[in-house]
Amino acid sequence: MTETIVLPSPTALTERDIAPGLDLVAEINRLRRERNAVILAHYYQDGEIQDLADFVGDSLDLSRKAAATDAEVIVFCGVRFMGEVAKILSPAKTVLIPDAAAGCSLEESCQPAAFKAFRERHPDHLAVTYINCSAEIKALSDVIVTSSNAEAILRQLPADRPILFAPDRHLGAYLARKTGRAMTLWPGSCIIHEQFSEKELVKLKTRHPQALVAAHPECPEAVLAHADHVGSTRAILEFVLASDRQDFIIATEPHIIHQMAKAAPHKTFLPAPGADGGCSCSNCPFMALNTLEKIYLCLRNDAPALVVPEPLRRAALAPLERMLEMSRGLPMAGGSHGG
Ligand code: 13P
Repeated sequence: MTETIVLPSPTALTERDIAPGLDLVAEINRLRRERNAVILAHYYQDGEIQDLADFVGDSLDLSRKAAATDAEVIVFCGVRFMGEVAKILSPAKTVLIPDAAAGCSLEESCQPAAFKAFRERHPDHLAVTYINCSAEIKALSDVIVTSSNAEAILRQLPADRPILFAPDRHLGAYLARKTGRAMTLWPGSCIIHEQFSEKELVKLKTRHPQALVAAHPECPEAVLAHADHVGSTRAILEFVLASDRQDFIIATEPHIIHQMAKAAPHKTFLPAPGADGGCSCSNCPFMALNTLEKIYLCLRNDAPALVVPEPLRRAALAPLERMLEMSRGLPMAGGSHGG
C-alpha cells in the first residue's frame, strides 16, 4: 500500500496571480456554485474561513458530512488527514485542500513501520486509533475514534480484549480513567494541547474565580484536573452555550472562540494560557496555513487534490466505517453553519 498522493495542478495560479483588490469571498462563492462544491471547516480555522464554510464542525461531524454530501467537490479546510478521511469516505468526489503542507503533530508522531511493530508486539490487543493519523495508520487499526465518540465506542468493545490506543497519550489516558479500561498508549501528543500550563491556568482562575474551565481531552492530565468540562470541540461549544455562567476559560485551540463569541456575545471567553502566560502559542500552525487566497486558488486550480490509492483506501475505510456505525446513536451537531 502506498501513501496518499497530493496532485498539484500543472498550470496552477499562485498567490502572485491574484489581482489586487479581488473580492475573494465573492469569487469563492461564484466558484463553489459553478463547481457544485461544499466547503467544510474545522472549528480551529480562522473566523473568516468558518464564516465562509457551508458547515463548521468537529472531527466526527465533519466526517459524517463528508460521507453524506451530494456535492461533487469537497473543499476541506482543516488539516490534511481530515481531507484524507473525506476522500476515503467519498472516493468519487474531488477533495481539495487549500494547503498540502497542513499536517498534524499527532499524525507525525505515529509512523506506519513503528506502529506495525507496536501492533505485532501486542497481537491479542484491539487497536483503537484516534482519527488524527494517516491513512496507513488507519489501515492498520481495528476502529477509529474521535474525541466525541471515543468513550462510547470503547464501551461497546468486548471487555476482555486489551486495548492499544494511538497516537494521543493524553486522550488515551483520559479515556482509561473514564472507562476504567487498561490501555497501552502510543507516546504521541498534540503540540498545541501539550503546551497549556497548569501553573498559568491556576493563576488565571485566581484572577477569574467565577470562570468555568472547558478543556479538550488532548490536554495533559494536570490541566484536565482543573476542568469543569472535558470534551471534543463541539462538546466544549455546547457546554459554554448551555451554561448559565458568564465567564469561561477555554483550553483548546482558541479559534473555536469565534463560534462561542458569535453565539453568545454577552459571555466572556478566555483562552487558556501557555507556559509564558500568553496564548499566541496555542494557535495551531498547521490550521493557520489555510487562507481565503488558498481556498480561492484551490477552487480555481482544482488542486491540491487528494488521491488515496484504492488498496489503501479500502483498508482504511473498514475501521472508519466501524467508527461511523458505532457512533450512530450519537447526535449530530445542531448546525454550526458558517455564513
Ligand atoms: P475534535 O474536532 O474531535 O474536537 O478534535 C480536535 C482536533 O484534534 C483536531 O485536530
